[in-house]
Amino acid sequence: MRANLIAGLDIGTTKTCAVIGEVIGDPRRPGLTILGVGQARTGGLRGDAVTNIEEMTESVRASLKEAELMAGATVDRVYAGIGGDHVRANSSMGVVAISEDEVTADDVERVHVVARAVALPPDREMLHAIPQEYRVDHQRGIKDPLGMAGVRLEAEIFMVTSALTVAAHIRKATNRAGYRVQELVLEPLAGARAVLTEDEKEVGVVMVEIGASTTDIAAYFEGKIRHVAVLPFGGSTLTADLVQGLSVPWAEAQRAKEHYATAYTQLVDPRETVELPGPSPNQTRAVARELIAHIVEQRLDEMLGFIQRDLQDQELMERLAAGVVLTGGAAALPGIVELAQQIFAAPVRLGVPREGLGGLADSVGRPKFTTATGLALWGADRFRETGEGASTLTSGMLTKLGTWLKEFF
Ligand SMILES: Nc1ncnc2c1ncn2[C@@H]1O[C@H](COP(=O)(O)OP(=O)(O)OP(=O)(O)O)[C@@H](O)[C@H]1O
Ligand SMILES: [Mg+2]
Repeated sequence: MRANLIAGLDIGTTKTCAVIGEVIGDPRRPGLTILGVGQARTGGLRGDAVTNIEEMTESVRASLKEAELMAGATVDRVYAGIGGDHVRANSSMGVVAISEDEVTADDVERVHVVARAVALPPDREMLHAIPQEYRVDHQRGIKDPLGMAGVRLEAEIFMVTSALTVAAHIRKATNRAGYRVQELVLEPLAGARAVLTEDEKEVGVVMVEIGASTTDIAAYFEGKIRHVAVLPFGGSTLTADLVQGLSVPWAEAQRAKEHYATAYTQLVDPRETVELPGPSPNQTRAVARELIAHIVEQRLDEMLGFIQRDLQDQELMERLAAGVVLTGGAAALPGIVELAQQIFAAPVRLGVPREGLGGLADSVGRPKFTTATGLALWGADRFRETGEGASTLTSGMLTKLGTWLKEFF
């Protein structure tokens, strides 16, 4: 077993995806050499609700086996994604008195403990506690307070919690498949790791990851995470509209969406038609592509409009000078950038995993691989901090002080 392997596991509502990579090169800025990718249809899930743990286990096993086969290596631990609208995020402040003349590591540790000491309901678990900034006396915006002189140290911590049951199901399916969850990572944070640049996060940017049943949002400015959300709509919402609007079964509506749909009706030639199944078997009928585009555009307009208003309400929109980065399976829709530009009145680009990736990077260079690749990159970052890979044998190794993203078993 190689010690520097990392695996990301994304159990999406339609597909389960595994990415295996190897951390090499500059230890201060680790990229990831992609070695293997595996995909399987997700079974046993309906939205957040697990309907069949065995089927879910099988999806995990199949995707990881495929990735291992391609990588020519095995892993025993994974960075697993967690999403769903049960996720809550908020900021919390902590204050302590600085014990000596200047801030020590012990003071920083204490202020983190204070900030994190909010009551956690028994049905929830802490996923992330990310230090946002520190204040020493009245000076704000400090990234690293160590060694600064003062009497009072404050920390602002971004905390993310999830429903205990959802986390437990992911661990259970992973364990049954023969792997261990190294860390649970909030999907929007993993996605953002894969497709946003540090510069964009500094200037202000929002990632909108449109999956099947969920849309993940992660907004940053001044280099800090400001807002995350997992919204209960996505590509399946569009499919459901096509089922209604075109009077076709689900599978046909899905196919029409993936092959003929456009998100921006203006881009479609009004004379163009496509063949869809007719009312009785072995019959087909001609449907205007413009109609398909119109149905999809209307719903996407509503979905993206909802996100835009939400960002506006939180006074975030004006902070996002780098605009919007669209990703997720449904971001493959032609014309979606044009539509989003109109709705957000901001720059919009498509995000696919690419930056910092080597090896078989092409095999993850699609918007549907954003979360899984982001999870592997998250693992690579963690490897840099702790030296722990996906197949080291010293599993009891202690996480270094200063690693604040913990997994509570
Ligand atoms: N070429 C395409 N055009 C339009 N939609 C597409 C295309 N390819 C995939 N999709 C849609 O993207 C969605 C799947 O995206 P993705 O794989 O990111 O979702 P997921 O991770 O399984 O789900 P979720 O993130 O909601 O749990 C489906 O609705 C699918 O129909
Ligand atoms: Mg997904």
